[in-house]
Amino acid sequence: MWDPAVYRRFGAERSRPFFDLVARVGARQPRAVVDLGCGPGELTLSLAERWPGARLTGIDSSPEMIGKASAHGGPAEFRTGDVRDWRPGPDTDVLVTNATLQWVPEHRELLARWARELPPGAWLAMQVPGNFGAPSHVLLREVGKRYGVSDVLREAPVGDPAEYAALLDGAEVDAWETTYLHLLPVQDEHPVLRWMEGTALRPVKAALDDNAWQSFRADLARELTGAYPATGSYVAFPFRRVFVVARTASSGGNER
Ligand SMILES: C[S@@+](CC[C@H](N)C(=O)[O-])C[C@H]1O[C@@H](n2cnc3c(N)ncnc32)[C@H](O)[C@@H]1O
Repeated sequence: MWDPAVYRRFGAERSRPFFDLVARVGARQPRAVVDLGCGPGELTLSLAERWPGARLTGIDSSPEMIGKASAHGGPAEFRTGDVRDWRPGPDTDVLVTNATLQWVPEHRELLARWARELPPGAWLAMQVPGNFGAPSHVLLREVGKRYGVSDVLREAPVGDPAEYAALLDGAEVDAWETTYLHLLPVQDEHPVLRWMEGTALRPVKAALDDNAWQSFRADLARELTGAYPATGSYVAFPFRRVFVVARTASSGGNER
């Protein structure tokens, strides 16, 4: 279960890749824009400011996230759904999916299908975390092994930019990676633990009873303190992310 309030911790750091992604989408007057795995909806609504004439839809499999998103009111339609069931319409000129496809094992097939099914000249923009080899995740898997929850932790669920570029061959592709250096303020609890609680730790929490979860948290916090020590008032947390923006082949004259 996703907790929108916990996910919103570090909102500024989490939203920056979304804006860096969307900045590379050149659509001017798209007819329909969809945000797949829209989460609590604030970022989706920013797309209405960029493209006020577009029909905007946000889709997410979490009823809690869609509940939050719908409560904003405003110009987007939010609905519950699985990205695997979604299909582009003939007017879907922009598809955005940010920090979602790492949860979808079949996402490579989905990306290839969407690129085939989107209309000519449409834009597909996706971002996934590329930090599964970082100390945070290595330690998570190590502590996870001790608690018997390895089966809910993933080794490497995403690819590299070059892999996605090859997958989308035939489209005009812009693929890159960025390592952000997040400077997280020191708090009572280790800030990397608090960050991970919003996303990567959710399946562990769901798999453990309350006592085991509290003990797991304390063990992981200890490991994270060694890997990410405080430097003065902050903890430096490098975070690699993978970006792909692809434009489907245009049939000519499509300037949307
Ligand atoms: C890390 S959040 C990202 C939310 C938002 N895109 C953002 O950038 O803040 C991942 C979201 O993906 C959603 N999600 C995961 N698997 C999904 C699926 N198969 N179909 C639809 N949404 C999914 C989750 O419910 C969650 O809201």
